[in-house]
Amino acid sequence: MLLKDKVAVVTGASNGIGRAIVDVFIENGARVIGLDIVEIESWNPDFTMIKVDISNTADCERAYNEINTMADRIDVLVNCAGITRDAMTKKMSEEQFDQVIAVNVKGVWNLTRLIGPAMQANGSGSIINISSVVGVFGNVGQSNYAASKAAVIGMTKSWAKEFALKEGNVRVNAVAPGYTMTNMMNSVPAELLEKFRSSTMLGRLAEPIEIANSVLFLASDLSSYITGEVLNVNGGMRL
Ligand code: CAA
Repeated sequence: MLLKDKVAVVTGASNGIGRAIVDVFIENGARVIGLDIVEIESWNPDFTMIKVDISNTADCERAYNEINTMADRIDVLVNCAGITRDAMTKKMSEEQFDQVIAVNVKGVWNLTRLIGPAMQANGSGSIINISSVVGVFGNVGQSNYAASKAAVIGMTKSWAKEFALKEGNVRVNAVAPGYTMTNMMNSVPAELLEKFRSSTMLGRLAEPIEIANSVLFLASDLSSYITGEVLNVNGGMRL
């Protein structure tokens, strides 16, 4: 029960890695408020869903006010929601670029600008931002996504410094998952999947729970002296 009695906000909670994080947090005693543009039914008394478009600043403010009616403090924020709009750069439209930046960068900023300072005022908290192996190493056909996930690392390090000020004691870290078996992989051609798989030391792609467990570690007091770090969870993809 690593998160007993903690309140956690998780974006992208409806599926994939976000959903795995919700499950593992609840198993570890947290009360979880899930945010997503796609709503799912609550299956557990410790889970509440709020529908929100994280790229919309006013909608995030509305969701934050709703969270404040449910909980008197937030202990953990996981910024997991993200989208891809893959294309070779010469074929990538402005819309494809802007959509990815709006959700993956501004969406993370929109919520953290509300929740981070509140944690700082409380004198504790843990924020985990989901970056990507692509944000660290780049990828063919993902210049928009790579830019967004590298931005997530920049924001993580800035907030680790900023929300620690005035004895804020807020830890801010990023997890950079490798290729993980979620719906996001459906659009990836089979031969590329094979290439990604064979480039890992473990010879396989990640399961969502393996990423969620690393997020649990960073959310919990087991990582009480870790902040401003990027935890690469990619099966040794780039050794
Ligand atoms: N490495 C080397 N060459 C590549 C390549 C790659 N990864 N991808 C494409 N190419 C080459 C193709 O072989 C092709 O070469 P030729 O012109 O000689 O035939 C050329 O580039 C054009 O490729 P496509 O025909 O595939 O171009 P397209 O416009 O139809 O599609 C694409 C481009 C949409 C980017 C498609 O290649 C694709 O979906 N690639 C996968 C992108 C990817 O890895 N996404 C990861 C999603 S998971 C995720 O993002 C989560 C996370 O955090 C890890």
